[in-house]
Amino acid sequence: MTFAELIRARYAVRAYRPDPVPDGLLAQVLEAGRLAPTAANRQPIGIIVVHTAGREADLGRIYQWEWFGQAPLVLCVCTVPGEAWARANFDGRSYADVDAAIVMDHMVLAATEMGLGTCWVAAFDPVAARDVLELPHGVEPLLFTPLGFPADQPRAKERRPLAELVHRERW
Ligand SMILES: Cc1cc2nc3c(=O)[nH]c(=O)nc-3n(C[C@H](O)[C@H](O)[C@H](O)COP(=O)(O)O)c2cc1C
Repeated sequence: MTFAELIRARYAVRAYRPDPVPDGLLAQVLEAGRLAPTAANRQPIGIIVVHTAGREADLGRIYQWEWFGQAPLVLCVCTVPGEAWARANFDGRSYADVDAAIVMDHMVLAATEMGLGTCWVAAFDPVAARDVLELPHGVEPLLFTPLGFPADQPRAKERRPLAELVHRERW
C-alpha cells in the first residue's frame, strides 16, 4: 500500500470484530508510535494497552459508546506535560498535545496498513479515564482508540476543498 493509498484507506472505524489482534501486529503499531517525532525529542508520552475482555464496565465509564469496548484492544495515549517541550522564549506554549497526536497518528496509520481499524476518541470522560487507568499525578489522558479488525465499511471522505484550507503567501 502506498502512502497515498494508506491515508485514503484509514477511516474512523466504529464497529469491530472480536478476533484477537496478533501480538506481532500490536508490536508493530506500538513501534510506529515509538518512532514518532516529538518536539525537542522529549517524548513526553505514555501508551497504555488495555485488553477489553472483562473491562467492558470500566471502558463504558470512560466512553459510553458500545463500539469502544468491542475491539479486543483499546490504546490510550497519555501526555506527561512536565516532560514536554514548551516555547519558553516566547509564549510558553506546550507542545505535549501535538506530540501525542503525532504518536497516535503514527499508530493509526500503521494499524491501517495492517488491516486493523482505529477511531480517534477525544470525547471521553477524563476523570473516569484517570481512575480506571490509575494515572499518577502529572500524567494526562489525551486520546483513545480501539484497535481491532473492522466490522464496518469505509465511508466517502467529507472534506473541505483545498481552496478553503490553503492560503497563499498570507491568510
Ligand atoms: C482529535 C480527534 C478526536 C476525535 N474524537 C472522536 C470521538 O470522541 N468520537 C468519535 O466517534 N470520533 C472521534 N473522532 C473521529 C472523527 O470524527 C473522524 O476522524 C472524522 O469525522 C473524519 O472521518 P474519518 O476518520 O472516517 O475520515 C476524532 C478524531 C480526531 C482527529
